[in-house]
Amino acid sequence: MQFRYPSAHERFDYDSWPEVEARLSALDLSLPYTESVAALSRPVVAGPLQVPNAIAIHPMEGCDADENGAPGELTFRRYRRFAAGGAGLIWGEAASVLPEGRANPRQLWLHEGTVEQFAQLHETIITTAAAKFGTAHRPITVLQLTHSGRYARPDGLPRPVIAHHNPVLDARLGLPEDYPLISDAQLEALTEPFVAAARLARQAGFDAVDLKACHGYLLNELLAAHTRGDSLFGGTFENRTRLLLHLVEQIHQHVPDLALTCRLNVYDAFAYPYGFGMAHDGSLEPDLDEPVELICRLHEAGVSLVNVAYGNPYYNPHVERPYDSHEVGGYMPHEHPLANVAAMVRIQQELSRRLPQVPMVATGLTWLRQFGPNVAAAMVEQNWCAVAGFGRMALAYPEFAADLLSNGQLSTDRVCVSCSRCTQIMRDGGQAGCVVRDAGVYGPIYRAGRQRARETTQDK
Ligand SMILES: Cc1cc2nc3c(=O)[nH]c(=O)nc-3n(C[C@H](O)[C@H](O)[C@H](O)COP(=O)(O)O)c2cc1C
Ligand code: SF4
Repeated sequence: MQFRYPSAHERFDYDSWPEVEARLSALDLSLPYTESVAALSRPVVAGPLQVPNAIAIHPMEGCDADENGAPGELTFRRYRRFAAGGAGLIWGEAASVLPEGRANPRQLWLHEGTVEQFAQLHETIITTAAAKFGTAHRPITVLQLTHSGRYARPDGLPRPVIAHHNPVLDARLGLPEDYPLISDAQLEALTEPFVAAARLARQAGFDAVDLKACHGYLLNELLAAHTRGDSLFGGTFENRTRLLLHLVEQIHQHVPDLALTCRLNVYDAFAYPYGFGMAHDGSLEPDLDEPVELICRLHEAGVSLVNVAYGNPYYNPHVERPYDSHEVGGYMPHEHPLANVAAMVRIQQELSRRLPQVPMVATGLTWLRQFGPNVAAAMVEQNWCAVAGFGRMALAYPEFAADLLSNGQLSTDRVCVSCSRCTQIMRDGGQAGCVVRDAGVYGPIYRAGRQRARETTQDK
């Protein structure tokens, strides 16, 4: 089954589903679709988690914490808007478990000194949702725990912590061949901060923590550490998955009343031996055997929900986040965005076929604009996923879930237009949000970031 093939990139230009279908058919692709989005209103049970509807907001960093890692004003604003938007699952963004693991100086960092503000953030989510929808709608809250590994920039400068050498990604960071790998002892020492952060997340009120094993960050990079020799954490599948499974087991043991989730890259889109979920022939075709085995073990170890992720936002962002326009210094893919969406949907379908017992959150639907929920509902109806996740759609249109559940459709003038400006803000060191639909707040931040970048790098 071939997943990836060249097809010219095109921007979104469809007024009706038959137009999308015609394009899909010309590209020899298919997507499921249902007119009624009723399936998205069904409650979902995932282990101890009772999710009031089948819509999730994916984790999205706002880069708006204070220096100490506590949620800032814009963080509170974002989650207030999400909570008032009606999604059943609010998957909190990446929060570092250690200061040196932060991806930027404004990333959330959960520790004793910030737990009180995390608790206030959690309280804000719950009270806002209850005020809007009544106590019957209690969104499930997850906090994503991370170490940014290769992409650590705790003081705004690259401070990479790498698990294995990847010639392409090392070169991008200017790392010499003898740049040291994180040692086995240092990896073992990560258990304590992850467990401590999980305990604090529980104290702050979150229903679950998520172990972030996606997008090229440390726990994801380890999964692909085929070339890490002479190490308990490299080479074999057992070794590469050791830390992730150990963290699950330890958090369960030490914080037993906290649910666990995992955002897991099942397809790195980086050729073997440097990617996870890849065919061993050096192509970009997926091989889901290892991801399936890992999800199985995670589930058996007590992970209640797996949020399926893809690619690396610093290297191949189009794989998980199809776009119409790229960031400055980015690229236009040699693939139609419909091919990216269809690849993610097919992988999700295949995972559900092989893992019917595991509740999963699907990713990759925002590019479809107003048709995304219909594809999502068809996937939920056919049990390809338990919950449909939306990222950028929620930044652009925080009430998208409530509109869907009450009107059965989205307003076309509010949907995300996949312009990449929210992620451009991140690259420029600002606070991320929707520049198009929330322009009053994020327009000036975007422009200031572009101006700064032009002054420092002369980019035009
Ligand atoms: C501004 C921004 C910040 C993001 N931050 C995170 C994050 O903290 N953790 C994570 O797992 N994914 C993060 N992502 C990826 C999204 O969760 C999501 O997977 C991606 O945007 C594709 O989904 P979409 O097409 O619905 O937007 C981020 C995406 C954006 C646009
Ligand atoms: S800035 Fe807004 S419209 Fe553009 S990609 Fe981000 S969320 Fe979508």
